[in-house]
Amino acid sequence: MIYPIVAYGDPVLKKPAKNVEKDIKDLPKLIEDMFETMYEASGVGLAAPQIGLGLRMFIVDATSFSNDNEEFKKVFINPEILSEEGEEWPYEEGCLSIPGIRAEVMRSPRLKIKYFDENWVPHTEEYEGMKARVIQHEYDHIEGVLFIEHLSALKKRLLQAKLSNISKGKVDVDYRMKFPVKK
Ligand code: NI
Repeated sequence: MIYPIVAYGDPVLKKPAKNVEKDIKDLPKLIEDMFETMYEASGVGLAAPQIGLGLRMFIVDATSFSNDNEEFKKVFINPEILSEEGEEWPYEEGCLSIPGIRAEVMRSPRLKIKYFDENWVPHTEEYEGMKARVIQHEYDHIEGVLFIEHLSALKKRLLQAKLSNISKGKVDVDYRMKFPVKK
């Protein structure tokens, strides 16, 4: 099932999400639906709040970003970033919840994260470069943070009209979205 992606302005995107309970109903189906939704929108990451669920989980498939086409498809449940290090570097990010807006965001190049996978197996792993960045962007989502919040006040102000239009659905987008504000 493909979920509509929640657009900028919906309070679910601003709220820190809650841990996923182990007895959550039909986790495999939810994960499958999240991947289907992400692929339909040509995304490389999707966090549960983006389909309206205030849960600490996100998926990534950034295989296309890796130089050697090494698969980077994963499910992160109840993740916790343990450390981030290195000199922050810029990269132009976008977000399925904020279509049509891209901006350079500074992030650390390396991180250590612990999480559960789709089978509730715990992992602690280190990532760097683009993989780390995709994780940081999605992790922000479950903390209620959008990439635009990393921008300067001036840049944010310049985007305000566009953001307001997105929340009202006045935006060209080729996947299904749920807009918080009536036109
Ligand atoms: Ni995003």
